[in-house]
Amino acid sequence: MEKLLICGGKRLEGVVRIGGAKNAILPILAAILLNKSNDEIILTNVPRISDVAKMVEILRSLGAEITWSGTNMAVSPRNLTGYAVEEHLMREMRSTIFLMGALLARFGQVCISHPGGCAIGQRPIELHLKGLKKLGAQIREQHGYIYASCSRLTGADIHLDYPSVGATENIMMAAVYARGVTVISNAAKEPEIVDLQNLLNKMGAKIRGAGTDQIRIIGVNQLHGVEYSVIPDRIVAGTLMIAAAATGGEIILENVIPGHLEAVTSKLRETGVQIREESERVLIKAPKRLRAVEFVRTLPYPGYPTDLQAPIMAALTLADGTSMVVENVFDSRFKHVGELNRMGAQIVVASDNRTAVVHGVEKLTGATVTAPDLRAGAALVIAGLAAEGETIVEGLEHIARGYENLEGDLNKLGAEIKRIRV
Ligand code: EPZ
Repeated sequence: MEKLLICGGKRLEGVVRIGGAKNAILPILAAILLNKSNDEIILTNVPRISDVAKMVEILRSLGAEITWSGTNMAVSPRNLTGYAVEEHLMREMRSTIFLMGALLARFGQVCISHPGGCAIGQRPIELHLKGLKKLGAQIREQHGYIYASCSRLTGADIHLDYPSVGATENIMMAAVYARGVTVISNAAKEPEIVDLQNLLNKMGAKIRGAGTDQIRIIGVNQLHGVEYSVIPDRIVAGTLMIAAAATGGEIILENVIPGHLEAVTSKLRETGVQIREESERVLIKAPKRLRAVEFVRTLPYPGYPTDLQAPIMAALTLADGTSMVVENVFDSRFKHVGELNRMGAQIVVASDNRTAVVHGVEKLTGATVTAPDLRAGAALVIAGLAAEGETIVEGLEHIARGYENLEGDLNKLGAEIKRIRV
């Protein structure tokens, strides 16, 4: 098993370039299946992460031809043969739920295994299914599979009870070929949804409003090929900003969109971090010790991102004072607390499992810790950077899902991290 051996206490300094966004490329790879023409889709700035590798495996299992070299990918879905995603592939990555909309729109039917829950919550999908039903789909769930069918979907007005990112994306894709107009209200506003709209419109779709809470899709009959560059990953950028904050560092991140990071920038400024935003860069200069913040509340975009809740909590364990962290998006996203406390943090989680009180301490001490999920893993690496002594982080398969080379980026900034095999 591979583990990370982190020698703590190093101040991060230097420049790192951010790669493409995991949560943009995954729905984009599903949307590409809508293209029935012989044209290829060329994608650039594609992150080399394991979730993308899993999605490529799924698309190939459906008959798509894909070549992936470096951060460039060419996809030809003209010979798609299947609309049923193999269970073992579905179970490995639950976010493939948004294949439903694209495959249903293309084939008039789709069969996937119920994605189930994961480490951060039950991950229900009723908003996805309600939306597809409103478009006319017949949906049957049995034996752990979901089967949906409809010869041609019909545009509808769909109000989401909650601005779900995946449900917004699934319904957008399903509506691309629907007869008439679909309006999604209370839609999620994440930048990755804007990226999906831009990709689809460049392929010939007619979508307006992504980034606002109302998205309008006018059905079309055909899409065509396109060359498209994926937006930078705001969560990877935020992770590195927080790592710099936790080590009193001074770094520059290139290839970022500062506008996608406002909530993180604002929160880090509250802790005493100086941040300068340029058109495609952010410059971060952290104080020797952070100030505690009264609240970090995770919310749908443009609120503070839930994916950076664990990372900022790791930094706040060493802040001067007490901070409250409230996780409003997922029902079980504090699995990193126990591991942080093993390193000397003083965090108490309230019985609602939604509120954590973080009492800042003078120091963390290195320990062997296990990543329970992707972003908690990043948080444990950040804690290891700031701790005294050596930290060993296990569960690297979680981190590989969303970070191309977290230890490589951090070592480029002066960290001392070795990948060891034991
Ligand atoms: C996307 O997940 C991201 N994943 C998540 O990133 C991210 O944390 C999340 O959006 C919120 O920003 C991808 O884009 C691949 P949601 P998604 O539907 O679409 C509830 C990471 O670390 N809900 O907005 O699953 C749900 O249980 C990952 O990169 C319903 O109740 O998020 C959750 O509590 C983690 N019913 C909340 O909404 C539904 O039908 C937000 O979920 C759907 C969702």
